[in-house]
Amino acid sequence: MKFSTSSPKLSSLKTDVLALGFGNDEFFSDLGHEIDRKLSGRIKEIIKKEKFHGTVGETRLVDTHGKIGAGTIVLVGLGDERRMDLDLLRKFAAWAVKSANRIKEQKVTVEELPAARKIAADQRGQALTEGALMANYRFDVYKSKKTNSNDRVSQFEILTSDSQAVNRGIRRGVAYGESVNFARDLVNTPASDMTPRIMAEAARKIARSPGLFIQVHDKRQIKKMGMGCYLAVSKGSTEPPYLVHLRYRPAGTSKKRRKVIAVVGKGVTFDSGGLSLKSASSMETMKDDMSGAAAMMGVMKALAVLKPGIEVHGISALTENMPSGSAEKPGDIARAMSGKTVEILNTDAEGRLTLADAVFYAQKFKPDVLIDIATLTGACVMALGELCTGIMGNHQELIDELVNCGKAAGEKIWPFPLIDEYRDEIKSSIADLKNVGGRFGGTINGALFIQEFIDPKIPWAHLDIAGPSWTDKELPYCPRGGTGHSVRTLLNYLLKQ
Ligand code: BES
Ligand code: ZN
Ligand code: ZN
Repeated sequence: MKFSTSSPKLSSLKTDVLALGFGNDEFFSDLGHEIDRKLSGRIKEIIKKEKFHGTVGETRLVDTHGKIGAGTIVLVGLGDERRMDLDLLRKFAAWAVKSANRIKEQKVTVEELPAARKIAADQRGQALTEGALMANYRFDVYKSKKTNSNDRVSQFEILTSDSQAVNRGIRRGVAYGESVNFARDLVNTPASDMTPRIMAEAARKIARSPGLFIQVHDKRQIKKMGMGCYLAVSKGSTEPPYLVHLRYRPAGTSKKRRKVIAVVGKGVTFDSGGLSLKSASSMETMKDDMSGAAAMMGVMKALAVLKPGIEVHGISALTENMPSGSAEKPGDIARAMSGKTVEILNTDAEGRLTLADAVFYAQKFKPDVLIDIATLTGACVMALGELCTGIMGNHQELIDELVNCGKAAGEKIWPFPLIDEYRDEIKSSIADLKNVGGRFGGTINGALFIQEFIDPKIPWAHLDIAGPSWTDKELPYCPRGGTGHSVRTLLNYLLKQ
């Protein structure tokens, strides 16, 4: 999709579909009134007849019969204009793009909304760009009949009187949106076509960009490093594990020590549960169990474009979790890279085993902050539902910052308490730890387990994205499937450091 800006004057308008904001039975701008007069009041007439009030997400198409420089007007319901924020701008762009796709038009223009002037122009440009790119996303690699590229929006134009700042936002929005869509592709690809080996290859491809570097450790090296918990998970699979370690380093030779941040993503490319086998229906979407790794890779890809002045390590212990004659058995004990021993009572609690070794490995690079991101527990989906990430950690400021970065990204994050007393739940009678607690507090127990492998001096946050990493129904700017959730939250955080 190509992005551009243009003057907000009606006389210079030239597009297929013009999107106008509408809410509480009124146009959001004078441009709406001006166009309605040019069309001899037809828009108002249609609105009245069809009882279109402009509630959030409602849309109406109006043919202009060539009377203005746009073939079709789409009225986008945005509700109360005092509620205007970044996410409503994303949705404005998204609903405009989806309306245009429905009538197979190519060029979409969105008006400048007076209600959005309280938001900085570059932020506006970024949000509209993100919304347009994410809403235009389709995963049709496996369809024998591909969507014709002429049937999808290919140009997105933003009307603005501050084109310089908006264009700056567009550049950032393109990096954000494309990285989200890249993460979605990784998640949506069937597990047999997104094995640890193939995913590591995808990471190698990203690492070709200047500023990025990669190391991929194979099974022999993983063994040599003593990552017994990670290896225990991979034992049941015929697909070998690969530990991916991407690095972003800013250009220049600044003397002062740069901030170092590690992002560790859970990368289970398929979670069958292992011998503690999942039910058929719970397994249906388990190709998404590498969403944390996909988000990490999306973030790294964007960093190469956005070039912040910090160092970032992106790490994932890629593996499948499969049952077989060589699989780990409930009751087995594995020794983690840290030296701690773990009694594996449930092979379906595999994410924490891979993360135990991955976060320990990450700390070798002396990060100032460590963030892990994982589709870790079904309990988190029970507690917060499908749209919200759970966050826990050892550093309140870091947690608050990430929650706020989520708000700005339109991604919901809610804190759980890390209750120290519950550590008893994950103590084993014959090893140091066991990989499951009791019936209650599953999300907290998962985080407490990971914490056992974190140096308490390092600010650490754990994001449980089991809910929002996947959507079964279409969302305003995401079709069914992988969502690419957390890519934009993490980028917001990294760009602020
Ligand atoms: N990948 C799952 C968690 C999950 C569940 C993600 C549903 C997305 C949707 C994880 O590996 C898992 O199976 N966790 C177990 C832990 C339990 C055995 C302690 C769970 O949540 O049931
Ligand atoms: Zn599992
Ligand atoms: Zn899992």
